[in-house]
Amino acid sequence: MKPIRKAVFPVAGLGTRFLPATKAIPKEMLPVVDRPLIQYAVDEAREAGIEQMIFVTGRGKSAIEDHFDIAFELEKTMSERGKDLSVLEPTRLGPGNCAYVRQQEPLGLGHAIWCARDIVGDEPFAIFLPDEFMHGTPGCMKQMVDAYHKVGGNLISVLEVPHEQVSSYGVITPGAQDGALTEVRGLVEKPKVEEAPSNLIVSGRYILQPEVMRVLQRQEKGAGGEIQLTDAMAEMIGSQAFHAVTFDGARYDCGSKAGYIQANLAVALERPDIAGDVRAFALDLLK
Ligand code: UTP
Repeated sequence: MKPIRKAVFPVAGLGTRFLPATKAIPKEMLPVVDRPLIQYAVDEAREAGIEQMIFVTGRGKSAIEDHFDIAFELEKTMSERGKDLSVLEPTRLGPGNCAYVRQQEPLGLGHAIWCARDIVGDEPFAIFLPDEFMHGTPGCMKQMVDAYHKVGGNLISVLEVPHEQVSSYGVITPGAQDGALTEVRGLVEKPKVEEAPSNLIVSGRYILQPEVMRVLQRQEKGAGGEIQLTDAMAEMIGSQAFHAVTFDGARYDCGSKAGYIQANLAVALERPDIAGDVRAFALDLLK
């Protein structure tokens, strides 16, 4: 079983649900308290033992490259003033640990992943959708990599949503269940509520075998006229092991406004330096 050494972060989407905030700033740079979403995703990848981060970017996303680079002037000035630089430590990705490829047109998540095919090469890899903020210990990808060591093949993280919400997501047809692991028998992107095979939705973390790139190569369009990753994964079911992992933790959809506010509140209430103030303020506000 080959280890999971590489992660793909598709960050070329337009972030239209967050306009005008995301007109000039990538959605993935929106902070939850004091760290951008993309930083949480990279930290989650590192915790899972992943070494190489591959970002699929687009126009207007250069802030992400700057974030993971050395900020020479900032660091020099901070050192001269005797300020603590350790806060910047997680933002350093050396040249051997990161790569950037461009998706020239936002043709869909499946297309974004396919743009990384040459860097991924012939090995299994992880995918992170950074606007899905997965909050837990251990992190979601660590839980998935642990499961991968048991069953191999392809894995996706899933969670239950109220049935009437399924039409916004990729939905699985569940098979046999063993603790947090569920066999995946089918996958469908954005089904009609009455046709959905379950209320278990795919939630932004994947471990996939490289063969998925060959399916994506065909560039077939699916729901919404986009090249869908879900459709490519669905084709692999039956020929390769495919399991879902129910994440033991909380998930916030930070691509939506309500989810983003919830994530900020949840993290703020866990931070010893601000939790007291935030709690008192929130209680006061709700009176
Ligand atoms: P979303 O549909 O949530 O992102 O795609 P979006 O298109 O940026 O957001 P809205 O709906 O307009 O507000 C899920 C993930 O896939 C990436 C996005 O950046 C996000 O991380 N993506 C999507 C791409 O990289 N390329 C695409 O063509 C589509």
